[in-house]
Amino acid sequence: MEFVLIDMFSLAMDKMKDLRLEETVIRSELFDVDGVPLAEPIARIWDQVWKFKARPDDVLIATYAKAGTTWTQEIVDMIQQNGDTEKCKRETTYKRHPFLEWYCAEPPSARYSGLELAEAMPSPRTMKTHLPVQLLPPSFLEQNCKIIYVARNAKDNLVSYYHFHRMNKGLPDPGTWEEFVQKFMTGKVPWGSWYDHVKGWWKAKHKHRILYLFYEDMKENPKREIQKIAKFLEKDLSEEVLNKIVHNTSFEVMKENPMANYTKDFEGIMDHSISPFMRKGIVADWKNHFTVAQNKKFDEDYEKKMSDTSLVFRMEL
Ligand SMILES: *[C@@H]1O[C@H](CO)[C@@H](O)[C@H](O)[C@H]1NC(C)=O
Ligand SMILES: *[C@@H]1O[C@H](CO)[C@@H](O)[C@H](O)[C@H]1NC(C)=O
Repeated sequence: MEFVLIDMFSLAMDKMKDLRLEETVIRSELFDVDGVPLAEPIARIWDQVWKFKARPDDVLIATYAKAGTTWTQEIVDMIQQNGDTEKCKRETTYKRHPFLEWYCAEPPSARYSGLELAEAMPSPRTMKTHLPVQLLPPSFLEQNCKIIYVARNAKDNLVSYYHFHRMNKGLPDPGTWEEFVQKFMTGKVPWGSWYDHVKGWWKAKHKHRILYLFYEDMKENPKREIQKIAKFLEKDLSEEVLNKIVHNTSFEVMKENPMANYTKDFEGIMDHSISPFMRKGIVADWKNHFTVAQNKKFDEDYEKKMSDTSLVFRMEL
Protein backbone atom coordinates (compact mmCIF):
# COMPACT_ATOMS: atom_id res chain seq x y z
CA MET A 1 0.00 0.00 0.00
CA GLU A 2 2.79 2.34 0.94
CA PHE A 3 4.56 1.73 -2.39
CA VAL A 4 1.47 2.58 -4.34
CA LEU A 5 1.13 5.89 -2.57
CA ILE A 6 4.74 6.83 -3.24
CA ASP A 7 4.34 5.93 -6.86
CA MET A 8 1.26 8.05 -7.26
CA PHE A 9 2.99 10.94 -5.56
CA SER A 10 5.97 10.85 -7.88
CA LEU A 11 3.66 10.60 -10.86
CA ALA A 12 1.85 13.71 -9.70
CA MET A 13 5.16 15.51 -9.23
CA ASP A 14 6.25 14.61 -12.75
CA LYS A 15 3.00 15.90 -14.10
CA MET A 16 3.44 19.20 -12.25
CA LYS A 17 6.95 19.60 -13.63
CA ASP A 18 5.62 19.09 -17.15
CA LEU A 19 2.89 21.63 -16.59
CA ARG A 20 5.34 24.19 -15.30
CA LEU A 21 7.58 23.77 -18.34
CA GLU A 22 4.64 24.19 -20.66
CA GLU A 23 3.50 27.29 -18.86
CA THR A 24 6.89 28.97 -19.07
CA VAL A 25 7.28 29.00 -22.82
CA ILE A 26 5.01 27.86 -25.60
CA ARG A 27 7.00 27.28 -28.78
CA SER A 28 5.81 29.56 -31.53
CA GLU A 29 4.24 28.55 -34.81
CA LEU A 30 5.45 29.76 -38.20
CA PHE A 31 3.47 32.28 -40.21
CA ASP A 32 3.84 33.05 -43.87
CA VAL A 33 5.06 36.57 -44.71
CA ASP A 34 5.23 37.02 -48.49
CA GLY A 35 6.05 33.35 -48.91
CA VAL A 36 8.63 33.22 -46.10
CA PRO A 37 7.84 31.42 -42.84
CA LEU A 38 8.56 33.61 -39.82
CA ALA A 39 7.93 32.99 -36.13
CA GLU A 40 4.38 34.07 -35.25
CA PRO A 41 5.37 37.03 -33.00
CA ILE A 42 7.56 38.47 -35.79
CA ALA A 43 4.77 38.04 -38.33
CA ARG A 44 2.49 39.91 -35.93
CA ILE A 45 4.71 43.03 -35.92
CA TRP A 46 5.73 42.70 -39.58
CA ASP A 47 4.30 46.08 -40.68
CA GLN A 48 6.54 47.86 -38.21
CA VAL A 49 9.61 45.89 -39.28
CA TRP A 50 8.96 46.66 -42.95
CA LYS A 51 8.66 50.40 -42.22
CA PHE A 52 11.91 50.50 -40.22
CA LYS A 53 13.90 53.67 -40.95
CA ALA A 54 17.55 52.88 -41.51
CA ARG A 55 20.10 55.68 -41.16
CA PRO A 56 22.92 56.12 -43.72
CA ASP A 57 25.65 55.22 -41.22
CA ASP A 58 23.94 52.01 -40.06
CA VAL A 59 25.92 48.80 -40.55
CA LEU A 60 23.89 45.63 -40.98
CA ILE A 61 25.13 42.08 -40.43
CA ALA A 62 22.88 39.74 -42.39
CA THR A 63 22.99 35.95 -42.33
CA TYR A 64 20.82 32.89 -42.51
CA ALA A 65 20.43 31.76 -38.88
CA LYS A 66 23.43 29.82 -37.52
CA ALA A 67 25.86 30.87 -40.23
CA GLY A 68 28.36 32.75 -38.05
CA THR A 69 26.27 35.76 -37.02
CA THR A 70 27.46 36.18 -33.43
CA TRP A 71 31.03 35.55 -34.50
CA THR A 72 30.83 38.28 -37.16
CA GLN A 73 29.14 40.63 -34.70
CA GLU A 74 32.04 40.26 -32.26
CA ILE A 75 34.58 40.84 -35.05
CA VAL A 76 32.75 43.96 -36.23
CA ASP A 77 32.45 45.33 -32.70
CA MET A 78 36.12 44.71 -31.98
CA ILE A 79 37.07 46.49 -35.21
CA GLN A 80 34.81 49.42 -34.35
CA GLN A 81 36.27 49.61 -30.82
CA ASN A 82 39.82 49.33 -32.21
CA GLY A 83 40.43 46.07 -30.33
CA ASP A 84 39.42 47.41 -26.91
CA THR A 85 37.88 44.32 -25.25
CA GLU A 86 36.74 46.37 -22.26
CA LYS A 87 34.52 48.47 -24.54
CA CYS A 88 33.23 45.30 -26.20
CA LYS A 89 32.14 44.07 -22.79
CA ARG A 90 29.81 47.10 -22.35
CA GLU A 91 26.78 44.93 -23.09
CA THR A 92 25.77 41.52 -24.38
CA THR A 93 25.82 40.83 -28.12
CA TYR A 94 22.05 41.07 -28.22
CA LYS A 95 22.03 44.55 -26.70
CA ARG A 96 25.07 45.90 -28.57
CA HIS A 97 23.58 44.98 -31.94
CA PRO A 98 19.79 45.04 -32.10
CA PHE A 99 18.29 42.00 -33.83
CA LEU A 100 16.13 43.95 -36.24
CA GLU A 101 13.04 41.78 -36.70
CA TRP A 102 13.16 39.74 -33.50
CA TYR A 103 10.16 39.87 -31.26
CA CYS A 104 9.26 37.41 -28.56
CA ALA A 105 6.35 38.23 -26.27
CA GLU A 106 6.65 35.24 -23.94
CA PRO A 107 7.53 34.90 -21.19
CA PRO A 108 6.66 38.49 -20.17
CA SER A 109 9.78 38.63 -17.99
CA ALA A 110 11.90 38.27 -21.14
CA ARG A 111 10.16 40.46 -23.68
CA TYR A 112 12.48 41.31 -26.53
CA SER A 113 11.99 43.63 -29.45
CA GLY A 114 14.80 44.42 -31.84
CA LEU A 115 12.93 47.46 -33.18
CA GLU A 116 12.71 49.07 -29.76
CA LEU A 117 16.40 48.54 -29.09
CA ALA A 118 17.35 49.86 -32.53
CA GLU A 119 15.18 52.94 -32.35
CA ALA A 120 16.56 53.86 -28.93
CA MET A 121 20.16 53.45 -30.03
CA PRO A 122 22.26 56.50 -30.97
CA SER A 123 24.18 56.47 -34.27
CA PRO A 124 26.31 54.90 -35.56
CA ARG A 125 24.38 51.67 -35.09
CA THR A 126 25.27 48.11 -36.00
CA MET A 127 22.38 45.69 -36.30
CA LYS A 128 21.76 42.09 -37.17
CA THR A 129 19.10 40.39 -39.28
CA HIS A 130 18.24 36.95 -40.63
CA LEU A 131 15.81 38.28 -43.21
CA PRO A 132 16.08 37.12 -46.82
CA VAL A 133 16.97 40.05 -49.07
CA GLN A 134 13.45 40.43 -50.51
CA LEU A 135 12.11 41.03 -46.99
CA LEU A 136 14.80 43.53 -46.00
CA PRO A 137 13.14 46.84 -45.04
CA PRO A 138 13.66 48.99 -48.18
CA SER A 139 15.26 51.87 -46.26
CA PHE A 140 18.55 49.94 -45.89
CA LEU A 141 19.11 49.91 -49.63
CA GLU A 142 17.67 53.41 -50.12
CA GLN A 143 20.16 54.75 -47.56
CA ASN A 144 22.99 52.73 -49.15
CA CYS A 145 23.91 51.20 -45.77
CA LYS A 146 26.92 48.92 -45.51
CA ILE A 147 25.83 45.32 -45.25
CA ILE A 148 28.00 42.35 -44.32
CA TYR A 149 26.52 39.02 -45.37
CA VAL A 150 27.93 35.72 -44.13
CA ALA A 151 27.01 32.41 -45.76
CA ARG A 152 27.78 28.92 -44.46
CA ASN A 153 27.58 25.66 -46.38
CA ALA A 154 24.11 24.13 -46.33
CA LYS A 155 24.91 20.91 -44.49
CA ASP A 156 26.75 22.46 -41.56
CA ASN A 157 24.18 25.24 -41.43
CA LEU A 158 21.42 22.62 -41.22
CA VAL A 159 23.16 20.69 -38.42
CA SER A 160 23.71 23.84 -36.40
CA TYR A 161 20.12 24.98 -36.96
CA TYR A 162 18.82 21.61 -35.80
CA HIS A 163 20.69 21.79 -32.49
CA PHE A 164 19.69 25.43 -32.11
CA HIS A 165 16.01 24.51 -32.48
CA ARG A 166 16.42 21.91 -29.75
CA MET A 167 17.75 24.45 -27.23
CA ASN A 168 15.82 27.58 -28.28
CA LYS A 169 12.16 27.61 -27.34
CA GLY A 170 11.64 30.79 -29.34
CA LEU A 171 11.64 28.49 -32.37
CA PRO A 172 9.25 25.69 -33.34
CA ASP A 173 9.89 22.12 -32.23
CA PRO A 174 12.42 20.65 -34.71
CA GLY A 175 10.96 17.12 -34.60
CA THR A 176 13.40 14.29 -35.24
CA TRP A 177 16.66 14.81 -37.12
CA GLU A 178 15.14 13.08 -40.16
CA GLU A 179 12.10 15.36 -40.01
CA PHE A 180 14.24 18.45 -39.63
CA VAL A 181 16.36 17.58 -42.68
CA GLN A 182 13.12 17.44 -44.67
CA LYS A 183 11.91 20.77 -43.27
CA PHE A 184 15.22 22.45 -44.10
CA MET A 185 15.22 21.11 -47.66
CA THR A 186 11.69 22.35 -48.25
CA GLY A 187 12.28 25.70 -46.55
CA LYS A 188 9.68 25.06 -43.84
CA VAL A 189 11.86 26.58 -41.14
CA PRO A 190 12.07 30.09 -39.64
CA TRP A 191 13.35 32.63 -42.22
CA GLY A 192 12.56 30.16 -44.97
CA SER A 193 14.69 28.49 -47.60
CA TRP A 194 18.46 28.50 -47.04
CA TYR A 195 18.85 28.12 -50.81
CA ASP A 196 16.81 31.23 -51.65
CA HIS A 197 18.54 33.16 -48.84
CA VAL A 198 22.14 32.66 -49.97
CA LYS A 199 21.24 33.06 -53.66
CA GLY A 200 19.12 36.16 -53.09
CA TRP A 201 21.82 38.01 -51.19
CA TRP A 202 24.45 36.86 -53.70
CA LYS A 203 22.46 38.46 -56.51
CA ALA A 204 21.90 41.65 -54.52
CA LYS A 205 25.61 42.08 -53.89
CA HIS A 206 26.17 43.06 -57.51
CA LYS A 207 23.93 46.11 -57.11
CA HIS A 208 24.41 47.16 -53.51
CA ARG A 209 27.08 47.83 -50.87
CA ILE A 210 27.30 44.27 -49.62
CA LEU A 211 30.41 42.42 -48.46
CA TYR A 212 29.64 38.72 -49.01
CA LEU A 213 31.71 36.40 -46.81
CA PHE A 214 31.89 32.66 -46.27
CA TYR A 215 32.04 30.95 -42.88
CA GLU A 216 34.52 28.41 -44.28
CA ASP A 217 36.91 31.18 -45.38
CA MET A 218 36.67 32.71 -41.92
CA LYS A 219 37.58 29.40 -40.32
CA GLU A 220 40.40 28.80 -42.78
CA ASN A 221 42.04 32.20 -42.40
CA PRO A 222 40.35 34.46 -39.84
CA LYS A 223 43.04 37.13 -40.13
CA ARG A 224 42.51 37.54 -43.87
CA GLU A 225 38.71 37.76 -43.50
CA ILE A 226 38.92 40.18 -40.56
CA GLN A 227 41.09 42.42 -42.73
CA LYS A 228 38.44 42.32 -45.45
CA ILE A 229 35.81 43.44 -42.97
CA ALA A 230 38.04 46.21 -41.62
CA LYS A 231 38.67 47.48 -45.14
CA PHE A 232 34.95 47.44 -45.90
CA LEU A 233 34.33 49.46 -42.73
CA GLU A 234 37.18 51.82 -43.71
CA LYS A 235 39.15 51.14 -40.52
CA ASP A 236 42.91 50.87 -40.34
CA LEU A 237 44.10 48.31 -37.83
CA SER A 238 47.61 47.89 -36.50
CA GLU A 239 49.12 44.41 -36.62
CA GLU A 240 48.80 44.22 -32.85
CA VAL A 241 45.10 45.07 -32.83
CA LEU A 242 44.45 42.69 -35.70
CA ASN A 243 46.11 39.82 -33.82
CA LYS A 244 44.12 40.67 -30.72
CA ILE A 245 40.88 40.51 -32.70
CA VAL A 246 41.87 37.15 -34.17
CA HIS A 247 42.50 35.82 -30.67
CA ASN A 248 39.46 37.24 -28.90
CA THR A 249 37.06 36.18 -31.64
CA SER A 250 38.31 32.60 -31.78
CA PHE A 251 35.70 29.97 -30.92
CA GLU A 252 37.42 28.93 -27.69
CA VAL A 253 37.62 32.48 -26.32
CA MET A 254 34.12 33.50 -27.45
CA LYS A 255 32.55 30.41 -25.92
CA GLU A 256 33.75 31.59 -22.52
CA ASN A 257 32.86 35.24 -23.10
CA PRO A 258 29.70 35.83 -21.05
CA MET A 259 28.87 38.88 -23.19
CA ALA A 260 28.83 36.77 -26.35
CA ASN A 261 27.75 33.26 -25.34
CA TYR A 262 24.06 34.07 -24.81
CA THR A 263 23.88 33.02 -21.18
CA LYS A 264 22.74 36.49 -20.06
CA ASP A 265 19.90 37.00 -22.54
CA PHE A 266 17.00 34.74 -23.47
CA GLU A 267 16.84 33.09 -20.07
CA GLY A 268 13.94 30.67 -20.03
CA ILE A 269 14.04 30.58 -23.83
CA MET A 270 17.47 29.09 -24.50
CA ASP A 271 18.50 25.97 -22.60
CA HIS A 272 22.28 25.53 -22.88
CA SER A 273 22.11 22.20 -21.06
CA ILE A 274 20.34 20.71 -24.10
CA SER A 275 22.92 22.16 -26.51
CA PRO A 276 25.12 25.21 -25.85
CA PHE A 277 24.66 28.29 -28.04
CA MET A 278 28.35 27.99 -28.99
CA ARG A 279 28.34 24.31 -29.82
CA LYS A 280 31.31 23.32 -31.99
CA GLY A 281 32.03 26.07 -34.50
CA ILE A 282 33.71 23.79 -37.02
CA VAL A 283 33.46 22.91 -40.71
CA ALA A 284 32.20 19.45 -41.80
CA ASP A 285 30.44 18.39 -38.60
CA TRP A 286 27.63 17.35 -40.96
CA LYS A 287 29.60 14.14 -41.53
CA ASN A 288 28.71 13.14 -37.97
CA HIS A 289 24.99 13.61 -38.63
CA PHE A 290 23.99 12.63 -42.19
CA THR A 291 23.46 8.99 -43.06
CA VAL A 292 24.75 7.88 -46.47
CA ALA A 293 21.19 7.77 -47.80
CA GLN A 294 20.33 11.22 -46.40
CA ASN A 295 23.49 12.65 -47.89
CA LYS A 296 22.74 11.26 -51.34
CA LYS A 297 19.20 12.60 -51.29
CA PHE A 298 20.40 15.97 -50.03
CA ASP A 299 23.09 16.26 -52.73
CA GLU A 300 20.67 15.45 -55.55
CA ASP A 301 18.19 18.02 -54.33
CA TYR A 302 20.97 20.56 -53.72
CA GLU A 303 22.22 20.31 -57.26
CA LYS A 304 18.77 21.14 -58.59
CA LYS A 305 18.15 24.03 -56.22
CA MET A 306 21.61 25.54 -56.79
CA SER A 307 21.76 25.06 -60.58
CA ASP A 308 20.80 28.68 -61.28
CA THR A 309 23.62 30.40 -59.36
CA SER A 310 27.36 30.94 -59.65
CA LEU A 311 27.67 30.54 -55.86
CA VAL A 312 30.01 27.77 -54.76
CA PHE A 313 30.33 26.44 -51.20
CA ARG A 314 32.99 24.33 -49.57
CA MET A 315 31.49 21.52 -47.50
CA GLU A 316 34.89 20.77 -45.95
CA LEU A 317 38.31 22.38 -45.73
C1 LIG B 1 40.52 38.48 -24.65
O1 LIG B 1 41.66 37.62 -24.54
C2 LIG B 1 42.41 37.79 -23.34
C3 LIG B 1 43.66 36.93 -23.47
O2 LIG B 1 43.34 35.56 -23.62
C4 LIG B 1 41.53 37.40 -22.16
O3 LIG B 1 42.25 37.61 -20.97
C5 LIG B 1 40.28 38.27 -22.17
O4 LIG B 1 39.40 37.84 -21.14
C6 LIG B 1 39.57 38.16 -23.50
N1 LIG B 1 38.45 39.09 -23.50
C7 LIG B 1 37.21 38.74 -23.84
C8 LIG B 1 36.19 39.79 -23.78
O5 LIG B 1 36.92 37.61 -24.19
C1 LIG C 1 29.49 31.31 -20.95
O1 LIG C 1 30.54 32.02 -20.34
C2 LIG C 1 30.63 31.82 -18.94
C3 LIG C 1 31.69 32.78 -18.41
O2 LIG C 1 32.96 32.50 -18.92
C4 LIG C 1 30.95 30.36 -18.67
O3 LIG C 1 31.01 30.14 -17.27
C5 LIG C 1 29.87 29.50 -19.25
O4 LIG C 1 30.21 28.14 -19.12
C6 LIG C 1 29.65 29.82 -20.73
N1 LIG C 1 28.44 29.14 -21.11
C7 LIG C 1 28.32 28.36 -22.19
C8 LIG C 1 27.00 27.74 -22.36
O5 LIG C 1 29.20 28.19 -23.01
